[in-house]
Order: sequence, then C-alpha cells, then structure tokens
Amino acid sequence: MKPMAINPDLLFDQIADALAGAGFIVLDQPLPDSLIHGLIDNLNRQQNSFRPAGVGRQGDYQRNQDIRGDSIQWLEMGDPAVTEFLCWMDTLRLELNRRLFLGLFDYECHYAVYSPGAFYQKHRDAFRGNPGRKLSTVLYLNPNWDAMAGGELVLYDEAGEDELLRLAPECGKLVIFLSEDFPHEVLPATQLRQSIAGWFRIKST
Ligand code: OGA
Ligand code: MN
Repeated sequence: MKPMAINPDLLFDQIADALAGAGFIVLDQPLPDSLIHGLIDNLNRQQNSFRPAGVGRQGDYQRNQDIRGDSIQWLEMGDPAVTEFLCWMDTLRLELNRRLFLGLFDYECHYAVYSPGAFYQKHRDAFRGNPGRKLSTVLYLNPNWDAMAGGELVLYDEAGEDELLRLAPECGKLVIFLSEDFPHEVLPATQLRQSIAGWFRIKST
C-alpha cells in the first residue's frame, strides 16, 4: 500500500501516475478522519431512504438480486460532509484533467449498503447503459472492519481472468480505477458493508 501523501500536489501526482501506469490505485486514508465520520453519520441518518440498486439504466433498467444486492442513495450537495466530499472530488477531477487531459466533466456518486450475504457479480462500470464513465472511485465507510468478514472488492485484468487486486473495504480507503479497463466484483460479507461508489464522466457522443 502506498503511504498517504501529505502535500495535496504530491497526492494528485501519485494518483495521476498510477492511473497513467497500472490504471488503478488504492489510497489508505486520503480524506480527513472528520470527513469520513461526517459521511458515516449522514449515511446512518438516511438509511430508510435507500432503494435496491438496479442493473442498467433508462430503458433496460431492472432490479436483479442475482447480479447485485446493494441498496443505494445518490449523493446531493446539502449536508456539510457530503458537500465537502463532493468539493474534494471536484478538486481531484480538475487536478487529473490538468495532468492527464482526461476531459472529465462531472462526478456522480451514491452511497451503497450491502446487507450480510449481498454481493455484486463481476461487471464493468462503463457499458451501454452508463455512457461516459471514465474513472470509478469507491470510498469505504466501515469502522473496525473484521479481516475475516469477506466483502472484498476484486479487480480483474481486462479479459476478466487474472485477479489484480483484492481489497478489504476498510474505513477511509479510496480505490480509483479506469472504468472501461477493469472488470470487478464485490464478494459477499458476513457484516454490513458501506461505501460511496462514484464515477467521473466524460461527454459521450
Ligand atoms: C459498483 C462497484 C465496488 C465496491 O458499485 O459499481 O463495483 O467495492 N462497487 O463497492
Ligand atoms: Mn462497479
């Protein structure tokens, strides 16, 4: 695991270098602790407005627990922690555009809660139903995650065969990867698994 960079410019350099090279990066604790806890508190306050996630969008949207079993809630500005998180992500967007000329124009994200046993089968984030997704991010919000609880994110090579990364959803970790290049899945866990999944998008034609 890479150490957290203190200077924000170094952190953005580190992320840009990793995306240009391997195409993915795991950061241990890039966001302030207070922000992580603000996001967890906000998530806990709105548990009852979560809805089962669907597969696909628009015309072909469907719910299918055999594919994904999480419940989601899209994030909007308003709550101070959510606003701070969205501002942090917007800074990241601009800094990555400056370094990599990606043309990222916005960021969409949702809380995701997986009940014990829920999973998300191997999939890609950029597909016909979600045009323009360029970079995927997942921030984990699970204090005291038990190493034996499962719930790992598994990232595969482009062919979907070789495992590249297996990451426990420990509190404060942020993973970023190129949406088109890495099929990935969420393994079932024995405890509640919470996160914010998000996508930087480019304008699709
Ligand atoms: C997703 C996803 C990964 C994770 O929401 O599309 O792949 O680790 N999430 O939660
Ligand atoms: Mn995904």
